[in-house]
Amino acid sequence: MSGKKTIAVLGATGAQGGGLLRAILDDPGGPFAARAITRDVNSEKARELARLGAEVVAADIDDAASLEKAFAGAYGAFCVTFFWAHFSPEKEIAEAGAMAGGAKKAGLEHVIWSTLEDTRRWVPLSDGRMPTLMGKYKVPHFDSKGEADGIFRDLGVPTTFLLTSFYWDNLIHFGMGPRKGPDGVLAFTIPMGDRKLPGIAAEDIGKCALGIFKRGKELVGKTVGIAGEHLTGAEMAAALGKALGREVRYNAVSHAAYRGFGFPGSEDLGNMFQFKHDFEADFCGARSLETSRALNPALQTFESWLARNKSRIPLE
Ligand SMILES: NC(=O)c1ccc[n+]([C@@H]2O[C@H](COP(=O)([O-])OP(=O)(O)OC[C@H]3O[C@@H](n4cnc5c(N)ncnc54)[C@H](OP(=O)(O)O)[C@@H]3O)[C@@H](O)[C@H]2O)c1
Repeated sequence: MSGKKTIAVLGATGAQGGGLLRAILDDPGGPFAARAITRDVNSEKARELARLGAEVVAADIDDAASLEKAFAGAYGAFCVTFFWAHFSPEKEIAEAGAMAGGAKKAGLEHVIWSTLEDTRRWVPLSDGRMPTLMGKYKVPHFDSKGEADGIFRDLGVPTTFLLTSFYWDNLIHFGMGPRKGPDGVLAFTIPMGDRKLPGIAAEDIGKCALGIFKRGKELVGKTVGIAGEHLTGAEMAAALGKALGREVRYNAVSHAAYRGFGFPGSEDLGNMFQFKHDFEADFCGARSLETSRALNPALQTFESWLARNKSRIPLE
C-alpha cells in the first residue's frame, strides 16, 4: 500500500461506492488504495471487501465525528447519500453537509460528490406542470442533492460534482423490470413517452469515478455527467425482448398515472421522469457518452449489460 493515495469510499458495500471500491482493487498497479466505509465492519459484505484487500473502517453519515475519523489521512473521498433509506431531503442535505465538513476538516485533496440536478432551476415551485412535493421540492431526491452542491462549494472542498444516471440495475433491485400484463405479454412500464432516458450499469458509476480521480486536479470544481447510453422506452423494451427471447412491450404510461401508482416514492419518481422527459435535451446533454467512455473505457451499453444480467431480472 505504501506510496498509494487512499480514497475513502462511502456506500462501499452498495452500488455506487461498491463499483468504485472494486475498480480501485482491480487496478493494483494504479495510484490509489481503497478505504471502505461501512456502518458494520463485521457484515458479510464488509468482510468480503477486506478479503479483497480494502481497508475497512466504520462510520455513519449521520455521525459527523465518525466521518472525520474515516476521512483522516486520506487523499480523497467518494461521497454519496442514501435517499431511499429515509425519503427525507432535509436529512440528505444534512448528510451531505456532514460529509463536506468532514472532508474539509480532513484536508482532503479531491472529493467526488454523487449529485443530481436541482430540478427547481428548470421547474420553479410555481410551475404547475407537476405537483410540489413535501412543501418545497419538485423531485425531492434530486433537488436535495443539487441543493447540497452549494455546501461543498461554500466550504471550499475541492469537489467534482458527478451527475449520475438511472441504473439499469433498477430492473433487478428496484421493481422496474418488465411485468406480465393480463394478456401474458411482458410490459416495460416507464413514463418517458418517446424521449430518451440516460442509463448506466451501476458498477460503471464507480469505474467512471476512478477515471475522475485519475485525472487529478483537472476535474476539481467541474460537473461531470455520465451515462452508458441514452435510450427511449421503446428501444429499452426492444433490447429487453431481444435479450430475453420473448416479446416485451413498451408501456408508456402518463406521468400522472405513474405518480398515482402508490408505492413509496411514486410521486417523486413520476416527477423525476417528467423532468427527464420535458428537459430531455438538457438532461441528456449533461451526460456525455464520450466523456463517460473516456473515463471508463469498459463502459457497458444496455445490450452488453443485459447479456450479463438478464437472468437476474425478475419477470413475474
Ligand atoms: N437507483 C438509481 O437509478 C439511482 C440513480 C442515480 C442516483 N441514485 C442515488 O443513489 C443513492 C444511493 O446510492 P447506492 O445505490 O450506491 O446505494 P445502495 O446500493 O443502496 O448502498 C447503500 C450502502 O450505503 C451504506 N449506508 C446506508 N446508510 C448509511 C449511513 N447512514 N451511513 C453510512 N453508510 C450507509 C450501506 O452500507 P453499510 O450497510 O455497509 O453501512 C449500504 O451498503 C441514492 O441517494 C439515490 O438517489 C440512484
